[in-house]
Amino acid sequence: MLKRLDQVLANCGYSTRNEAKKLIKKGLVKVDGSVIKDPSFKAEPSRVLFEDEPLDHPDGLFVMFNKPAGYVCSHESSEGPRIYDLLPEIWLFRNPIVSSIGRLDKDTTGLILLTDITHLIHDFTSPKKSVPKTYRVKVENPLDQEIVKIFASGTLMLQGEETPCLPAQLQILDDLRADLIITEGRYHQVKRMFEAVSNKVTELHRWRFGQYTLGDLPEGEWVDIEAGQL
Ligand code: URA
Repeated sequence: MLKRLDQVLANCGYSTRNEAKKLIKKGLVKVDGSVIKDPSFKAEPSRVLFEDEPLDHPDGLFVMFNKPAGYVCSHESSEGPRIYDLLPEIWLFRNPIVSSIGRLDKDTTGLILLTDITHLIHDFTSPKKSVPKTYRVKVENPLDQEIVKIFASGTLMLQGEETPCLPAQLQILDDLRADLIITEGRYHQVKRMFEAVSNKVTELHRWRFGQYTLGDLPEGEWVDIEAGQL
């Protein structure tokens, strides 16, 4: 989509809109190889160079990140170290701001999607879309088929809630480990589901979200999700 150059720079986090006007007037921006000094000039963001470099994620950002333990998904640094502190700083200045699609607890590890394409947040988190999420859980007390049945029943009530959890699929891997697939995203849902059956989650790792799988992406690293995969 064609956009004004000052807007392109500002949206990609390079500067404020006003600063962008100055940077453009200084001759730091090229379109298709030619310097353009008019901030209102309209161009495809992917054809814009700033200081002779292509822009960072010119057409919007959508990445998969492997969250380490000890980081919060909030933008608020008062809540502890943020996942955003592990990511390129310029992402914090993008407009719209880069946000996680849903959140993982501070002690939870694994797959989190990040984007500045706001409709994607709705696409992945709206209850109507029922996007499945797969968690590897480690628990305190041995697992058994009774828990599998309860989770699958669609009758499990969480403390303080008025509607039962939708059926969830629990696949026991060994005494203390299982994969759990849920299609909702209630607050601390996985931990509270195990609490509701008198168990306790000691480790929680998400390895699949919708069609995306963490694979061998190292902890603390991110990878672009290609537009073609959207
Ligand atoms: N459920 C939880 O309890 N915690 C998470 O981080 C994600 C799902």
